Amino acid sequence: MPFRLVSAWNKRRRSKSQDHTDPWIYKPAAYWQIEDQAPRPTKRHHGSSVFTLKEMEEATCYFSDENLLGKGGFGRVYKGTLRSGEVVAIKKMELPPFKEAEGEREFRVEVDILSRLDHPNLVSLIGYCADGKHRFLVYEYMQKGNLQDHLNGIGETKMDWPLRLKVALGTARGLAYLHSSSAVGIPIVHRDFKSTNVLLNANIEAKISDFGLAKLMPEGQETYVTARVLGTFGYFDPEYTSTGKLTVQSDVYAFGVVLLELLTGRRAVDINQGPNDQNLVIQVRHILNDRKKLHKVIDPEMARSSYTIESIAMFANLASRCVRVESRERPSMPECVKELQLIFCTNAKGLGVAFRIG
Ligand SMILES: Nc1ncnc2c1ncn2[C@@H]1O[C@H](COP(=O)(O)OP(=O)(O)OP(=O)(O)O)[C@@H](O)[C@H]1O
Ligand SMILES: [Mg+2]
Repeated sequence: MPFRLVSAWNKRRRSKSQDHTDPWIYKPAAYWQIEDQAPRPTKRHHGSSVFTLKEMEEATCYFSDENLLGKGGFGRVYKGTLRSGEVVAIKKMELPPFKEAEGEREFRVEVDILSRLDHPNLVSLIGYCADGKHRFLVYEYMQKGNLQDHLNGIGETKMDWPLRLKVALGTARGLAYLHSSSAVGIPIVHRDFKSTNVLLNANIEAKISDFGLAKLMPEGQETYVTARVLGTFGYFDPEYTSTGKLTVQSDVYAFGVVLLELLTGRRAVDINQGPNDQNLVIQVRHILNDRKKLHKVIDPEMARSSYTIESIAMFANLASRCVRVESRERPSMPECVKELQLIFCTNAKGLGVAFRIG
């Protein structure tokens, strides 16, 4: 049975976390016993197309540097053109050498689950290649790259407040969809939500990438897997360290950090700051609910005419609750969606402009 195959990480988590009664605690696919009732996709279903190594090589001109889009913790990402003419992003996954040829079936099962997810705020997983020791994931191509680059002035898009609110709302909707079991019958915890995993398409619509990616790593090399599962420094849920329980609320913490990046234009971790000031949450936490000091943290790159202080204060308050140390005190993602809709309307009304939430 394919669903019995769960990643090493899942097994490790299950042995640590026996609290199966709490709906917020992440449970592996096997726990949900979905073998006989695999949910059907709602709308479009890419059906995880399977590609050969040759197709991947052809699509990327043999992984030429001109096609390199970036490099992350799992490997390099290339722009590619499939035989059908479709332009895609191809993630070439780097595996620990001694596990290269293993984990193929598990990889296929997990990719198949992830490819059933279908939401306008998730980057579509079009297919994969598991050919011998090679593993690739094929994604929808996002023309405008990642959010962090735009906030840091590398991208050319002017990020005024209404656009930042739209990005926050879109990603909140994407995470709420992942967390709802309606997608594939099980809640999916992203585990590595951050501003480089928020991508923008040609219409500057935000979509989340790399959901469930940590689960695709093969069994065996615990430290390797753990290093990835822990997520990225700066976004990491402090409660997870103490309890060892991964919950959807860990994603809410990371989402709060991205809200702070949108508000301040600063990096989640800035190694140019002093040792006590590198972490954005620690830098700004004490100011977020102090209206008189809020101006100190607002990104100076934003046009003053694009925001009202009222909407900024509401946004800062939401961010401060998302990054609370106690995960139970954080809002859920559907609550974040509702609040961001309200903040969007408050800003538009305050500025006296017509608005459409989208
Ligand atoms: N689907 C895509 N379309 C366009 N560009 C992409 C796509 N996926 C990734 N990229 C680009 O490639 C870069 C590297 O992505 P990658 O996911 O490997 O690294 P990361 O997001 O920085 O870290 P992590 O490995 O933790 O996700 C991204 O920052 C982004 O700019
Ligand atoms: Mg990424």
